[in-house]
Amino acid sequence: MSLYAITYVSDARADLRTSDLDRLLADATAFNRVAGVTGVLMFDGARFLQYLEGPQDGIDSVFPRILNARSHTQLKVLCRAPVPQRAFPRWNMGTRRIEAELLAQIVGEAWPGLTLGSVGFEHLLQAWTGADGELEPAAVALGS
Ligand SMILES: Cc1cc2nc3c(=O)[nH]c(=O)nc-3n(C[C@H](O)[C@H](O)[C@H](O)COP(=O)(O)O)c2cc1C
Repeated sequence: MSLYAITYVSDARADLRTSDLDRLLADATAFNRVAGVTGVLMFDGARFLQYLEGPQDGIDSVFPRILNARSHTQLKVLCRAPVPQRAFPRWNMGTRRIEAELLAQIVGEAWPGLTLGSVGFEHLLQAWTGADGELEPAAVALGS
């Protein structure tokens, strides 16, 4: 089965509350599970950086929901590409708070693809695994 992935950055709505984020994530995770989509969502308190992967029909059912969400604006796709395998097979939507500076650095990288060798993707993976280099660290609450 062919797999596709997409990464984008967006601005969180200014008045977004922790409870909104919790609801959004529960909704997204449940939908992704059914759609066969996995990935991660990073948040710096003002901007989202999300990576999604899955079969074409799964991505096609999830992405319009993201485009239509009122919780964010200024969505900019960094890269959309086929991928040979999943990078986050265990996360229907893993979440992590990251520093604004780190998010800005990742967004500013080159994104020629969504596999190793793409500077942007490698930096995103590194931000997810953290300094301890664990492949799939426990997700942490975005709002806290
Ligand atoms: C940053 C962000 C990431 C989202 N990620 C997903 C996702 O991975 N899968 C999904 O089905 N919906 C996703 N959504 C859509 C939400 O689950 C939800 O449907 C949407 O936020 C509806 O509420 P809203 O219009 O008040 O934002 C996302 C929305 C936002 C803002």
